[in-house]
Amino acid sequence: MQPFTIAIDGPAAAGKGTISKAVATHFDLAHLDTGLLYRAVGARMLTGEDPIAAAHALVAEDLGTPALRTAETAQAASKVAVIPEVRAALLDFQRAFARRSGGAVLDGRDIGTVICPQAEVKLFVTASAEVRAQRRFEELRDRGYDTEFATVLAEVKARDDRDMNRSDAPLRPAEDAVVVDTSDLTIAQAVAQTVDVIEAARQRRPR
Ligand code: DC
Repeated sequence: MQPFTIAIDGPAAAGKGTISKAVATHFDLAHLDTGLLYRAVGARMLTGEDPIAAAHALVAEDLGTPALRTAETAQAASKVAVIPEVRAALLDFQRAFARRSGGAVLDGRDIGTVICPQAEVKLFVTASAEVRAQRRFEELRDRGYDTEFATVLAEVKARDDRDMNRSDAPLRPAEDAVVVDTSDLTIAQAVAQTVDVIEAARQRRPR
C-alpha cells in the first residue's frame, strides 16, 4: 500500500494523544508520539547532558520511561525544542516513520508544517487554555499528584508561549489543516469527527 500519513498537531493537552491513538487503531496504522522524542531529550538535559548531544544519542529505551510524563520533563521538552540543532537531529527519524509502508499517524507540533508537509491528512487539534489546563489538572489529580489548577494553567500557558513563539518550526496550523476544537466535545465526539475527516480524505485518494 502507498504510504498514507496523518499529521496531527496542536498545543499541549488538547487531546491529540488520545485522538491519535484512537485513529491509529481505527485505521490500523503505526503511531508516533513525537513529543516523546523531545521529552526524552529534555529528561537527559535534566540529568546534566548537553541537549544537542542527547538528541543525537537517543535510543528506543529512552522513550519508555515513566519520568517522561512529569510536568518538569514537559517544560524541559519545550525548552530543548527551541534549539534548531535538536530539531534537526530528530528530523530524519520522524520523516522515515511517516513514510513507512502502509502509513502512519504522527502527532506533535510541526508535523503538518515541517516534518510532513506532504501528509495526506493534516489536523490541528486545539482547545482553550482553560479547558486544557482543567483536563491536565484532573489527570494529575487522578494520578495522585497534589497540585493547584492555577499552577497547571500557568504551565500550559508557558508551554504554549514557548512552542508558538520559537523561530524554528513554531506551533501553528498548516494552511490546509482541518481544525478540530475539542473544548466542547467529548473524547468520543472528537474521535468521531477526526475519523470522518480522515475517511473523506481516503475516499478522495487516487487508487
Ligand atoms: O506533545 P508533548 O506535550 O509531549 O510535547 C512536549 C514538548 O515537546 C512540547 O511542549 C514542544 C515539543 N514538541 C515539539 O516541539 N515538536 C513536536 N513535534 C512535538 C513536541
